[in-house]
Amino acid sequence: MTAPQPLTLQVNGRPRNAFALLNDTLLSVLRDALQLTGAKRGCNQGVCGACTVLIDGRPARACLSLAHDCVDREITTIEGAESIASSLQDAFARAGAVQCGFCIPGMLLTASALLRDNPRPTTDEIRVGLSGNLCRCSGYRKIVEAVTLAVEGRVE
Ligand code: FES
Ligand code: FES
Repeated sequence: MTAPQPLTLQVNGRPRNAFALLNDTLLSVLRDALQLTGAKRGCNQGVCGACTVLIDGRPARACLSLAHDCVDREITTIEGAESIASSLQDAFARAGAVQCGFCIPGMLLTASALLRDNPRPTTDEIRVGLSGNLCRCSGYRKIVEAVTLAVEGRVE
């Protein structure tokens, strides 16, 4: 096996240096090398969406993305998404949409991209938009309600 190679990732608006094997995932580098643990390791095989980050503004599964392939891409984790996710975070809190919280960073980032592309989604569009993010607490109804609250601007 080759030795870890140096790489520089643009994470949350600033360069972050790390070493990674060529087959190390972005999720491993974020969590284990850069201590950015907001992206969760759930299934680790592309199913659950708990590891969702934004790559060049688009939701992506960090467990399926090779770290070295992410050089020169703009990576946003929940730690760097305060401004884009703050109204959504308020809405999730008001709707009581957070149970264990494990899925919530991925839900927030996916929802933020959804609302950026479609500021007035219907309930069905919200459901479809979040369908790649699984909630093991099965809090889907409240999560959809939370995004609806944010859409309707009921969050102060
Ligand atoms: S941990 Fe990446 S999709 Fe489940
Ligand atoms: S709140 Fe527990 S997994 Fe969604």
